[in-house]
Amino acid sequence: MALQLCQNEAEESDDDTVCLGESFFVNREYNLTTFTFGPHSLRLLCLRSASTDYDLTGQLVWPGAVLLNNYLSDNAGILEGCSIIELGSGVGITGVLCSKFCHEVVLTDHNDEVLEIMRKNIELQSTLENPSCAALRAMKLEWGNSDHLSKILQEFPTGFDLVLGADIYILFVHNFSPLLFKSLANFP
Ligand SMILES: C[S@@+](CC[C@H](N)C(=O)[O-])C[C@H]1O[C@@H](n2cnc3c(N)ncnc32)[C@H](O)[C@@H]1O
Repeated sequence: MALQLCQNEAEESDDDTVCLGESFFVNREYNLTTFTFGPHSLRLLCLRSASTDYDLTGQLVWPGAVLLNNYLSDNAGILEGCSIIELGSGVGITGVLCSKFCHEVVLTDHNDEVLEIMRKNIELQSTLENPSCAALRAMKLEWGNSDHLSKILQEFPTGFDLVLGADIYILFVHNFSPLLFKSLANFP
């Protein structure tokens, strides 16, 4: 029997070939989890441990997001009425907390799989009892990608009051930092 990496499982050509499609490597067994930051409880879909793919770090809630959210919950005044863009949002836990105080929140990530669960989490917020929730948007942004940046700036021409990011510093070791700063420099 042969194992073959395929774009889609239908590619399987004969009885002796087992096709390892995307689903073999991607875990989508998300858990609905409650996170509490001061008086705020958030419910989000996320994984409890990483998928096999390095680039799927965004399926989890990282310790940096928990620290940042605790800080923001204790200092919510700095968010009142602001517009925010978050970089490398993952499942969106920071942006979702910000939506309780801000008037506009844009969550971004470069990974399509991560954007899918982020969008589900945004939908989930509107189905939960959350009438005061600000407008939450998910948009694709790969740091330094000028097409992605200009699409965001077309929709938000006045830019944002704050740019947030949790646990994206580790990517410095992978030399993403110049692209990350290039993206930051584009927001007025
Ligand atoms: C360690 S996770 C942190 C996720 C979330 N902020 C948290 O703290 O739970 C890093 C995130 O950055 C995203 N990311 C990595 N490289 C990126 C790039 N070049 N452009 C945009 N996003 C990127 C990943 O998809 C992932 O969601």
